[in-house]
Amino acid sequence: KRRITFTMIKPDAVADGNTGAILNRIEGAGFRIVAMKKTQLSKAEAEKFYGIHKDRPFFGELVEYMTSGPIVAAILEKENAVEDFRKLIGATDPAKAEEGTIRKMFAKSIAANAIHGSDSDENAVIESNFFFSERERY
Ligand code: CMP
Repeated sequence: KRRITFTMIKPDAVADGNTGAILNRIEGAGFRIVAMKKTQLSKAEAEKFYGIHKDRPFFGELVEYMTSGPIVAAILEKENAVEDFRKLIGATDPAKAEEGTIRKMFAKSIAANAIHGSDSDENAVIESNFFFSERERY
């Protein structure tokens, strides 16, 4: 069954001009783009989106970084979307990411790690609804 995941191309990757190369890899891996937009998160939006991390020591740095420039948000559809997308992007820490993964190719550090991927079907729906209305999905 086809399901969705949610992704953001993070500020470092957008600023470096890697948006097109990353989208090319995503579509090349068989994901269909259901919705997409370029936008910049406010501090309040970033704090809400990353609310589950609010007690982590890196929360301040995470919010600062994610609001530092525009991001590209998208809903992606594929069979086993969440699991397959996490394989495509690789480990959170680019030093641990496998060869050929998006983070291995484009991430600079654990914080500036180029791309987000939902960690469960439930969060994929919550995160998609955070960014997109029904009318923005095709
Ligand atoms: P992601 O898994 O998409 O969502 C949580 C983010 O927190 C993660 O990507 C990293 O960008 C960030 N993060 C995780 N661990 C650290 C850390 N030790 N220092 C800074 N940022 C981190």
